[in-house]
Amino acid sequence: MDTPLLSVRGLAKSFGGRQVLKGVDFEVRSGELVAVLGANGSGKSTTLRCVMGIAQPDAGTIAIDGQELDGLPWRQLQQARQRTAMIFQKIHLVPRRTALDNVCAGALARIPTSQSLSPLFFPRSVQQEALECLERVGLADRAFDRVGRLSGGQQQGVAVARALCQRADVVLADEPVSALDPHAAEQVMALLHDLAHRENLAVAAVLHQPDLALRHADRCIGLLNGTMAFDLPSSRLGQAELDTLYAPDRVVAA
Ligand SMILES: Nc1ncnc2c1ncn2[C@@H]1O[C@H](COP(=O)(O)OP(=O)(O)OP(=O)(O)O)[C@@H](O)[C@H]1O
Ligand SMILES: [Mg+2]
Repeated sequence: MDTPLLSVRGLAKSFGGRQVLKGVDFEVRSGELVAVLGANGSGKSTTLRCVMGIAQPDAGTIAIDGQELDGLPWRQLQQARQRTAMIFQKIHLVPRRTALDNVCAGALARIPTSQSLSPLFFPRSVQQEALECLERVGLADRAFDRVGRLSGGQQQGVAVARALCQRADVVLADEPVSALDPHAAEQVMALLHDLAHRENLAVAAVLHQPDLALRHADRCIGLLNGTMAFDLPSSRLGQAELDTLYAPDRVVAA
């Protein structure tokens, strides 16, 4: 079997003596969209933050394309980290800049500082690539619109294009559709599913809507108080698993 693009093993994390991740294990393969489900406070964001390097885990290993991040020399660590991008519920874009500029920003890590000091003048090659990324998410015609004038769903599309322009192949999305209306949420999930399948990305998305997970994700993992409750193909996710996460009082021992 091929190496998973993202592999997380035994992830543990405490805040002030309270353990919020107690050994989280999962993998995301190239070409796969995995939904991360769980009640508020179950550790979903902390898990993604640890994978991104925004939070420091107390234990566990994270590997990108088979390469463990822990102990990598700085430069290699930066290169591996460039392969992962995160998309948030609250869209982190600059509303006064055009969609194209915002997508170009995804390339900042790989362009020389001299050329990135003035983001008004991204190199032509980067602008061309950014335009292609907008095309891949179906927003090429909005490239020169200010992001602040786009709808929430379109803005989330721009955030996805920025991740593509970073050339990330592991995309982590923390509640990417929670602020969107049902139609836009459907479209953004379809886009993430499409990109995973068409472009062989590994996508993990935290969702609070199990029905969206069932419709769009290939696999669902469930977090319960910082532990893995299940890891299943979406077709096998049923009410019993959802009750484990969201209505533990209703779960009757078999
Ligand atoms: N920086 C922090 N300092 C202290 N506690 C934290 C910190 N970040 C998260 N926690 C705690 O860790 C637990 C898990 O939080 P996390 O944000 O990962 O949950 P979540 O599953 O993403 O929840 P939600 O669905 O509400 O976003 C919570 O109890 C939270 O209070
Ligand atoms: Mg969260």
